[in-house]
Amino acid sequence: MAEAKRIDGKAVAARIIETVKASTETLKAKTGTAPGLAVVIVGEDPASQVYVGSKAKTAKECGFTSIKHELDAETSEETLLKVVRDLNADPAVNGILVQLPLPKHIDEAKVIQTIDPDKDVDGFHLINVGRLSTGALAEAFVPCTPAGSMLLVREVLGDDLSGKNAVIVGRSNIVGKPMAQLLLAANATVTIAHSRTRDLQAVCRGADILVAAVGRPEMLTGDYVKDGAVVIDVGINRIEAPEKGLKEDGTPKTRLVGDVNYAEASEKAAAITPVPGGVGPMTIAMLMANTLRSACRVAG
Ligand code: GUN
Repeated sequence: MAEAKRIDGKAVAARIIETVKASTETLKAKTGTAPGLAVVIVGEDPASQVYVGSKAKTAKECGFTSIKHELDAETSEETLLKVVRDLNADPAVNGILVQLPLPKHIDEAKVIQTIDPDKDVDGFHLINVGRLSTGALAEAFVPCTPAGSMLLVREVLGDDLSGKNAVIVGRSNIVGKPMAQLLLAANATVTIAHSRTRDLQAVCRGADILVAAVGRPEMLTGDYVKDGAVVIDVGINRIEAPEKGLKEDGTPKTRLVGDVNYAEASEKAAAITPVPGGVGPMTIAMLMANTLRSACRVAG
């Protein structure tokens, strides 16, 4: 097979951000107010800090009001719930995102269920999960990573996936399960595979659309990929890269890789997302789209 087409998530995301910017201008001219996005982070996890920083920065670039609550790792559950309730009550806030994971002493489910479903731009509240799984897509906020992954599938295959076999590796509430719902809504035949699946390689080789969301660096080698498949790599893993030399502290430099071995898979696939530059930028773009949509709903 010829080398796979590289699906440029960065370019697609940039296009979405431009549309969001333009619509934000229109909304501001009409109502005099900007969409507001509040991001809440508890603790100092470095990866979460980076994600939250780029979400807040992109929100500003879109012309939104961006609010960041940084709470220390010892913050009590009650204090965090109060922050969420105050954001629910604030008319300037259209979207609320509480970065996960939360420290162990906080009940994540309780925090998520406290977010107003109509400001739940992550799409994690049970009301939005229910809307998505019953096909009420017009009302649902769809989780950003699967929503963005789905747009990348559509870039290659179009809107109707009738007759396509889709396999998702990973069954998380944030990616695997909502991705299955979206693919199903687009008429694909969907399998969710996971760590207990028997003969994972054979299952994956049946996939016309293969979505990897397992969090294990380069686990899906070329042997997992069918000729001509569309491969969506949701994984973002940092691994040591001794070939790049050493950092100042003497430890090896690192690089980002996905859950798919890109070099091997791209010899089989028709199209594949790179890491970085594939699904990652789409997640942030969809968060902006969801926040704008929330603000437009309020504006009528
Ligand atoms: N942690 C990892 N991904 C996400 C996400 O999409 N939203 C939130 N809130 N936390 C995350």
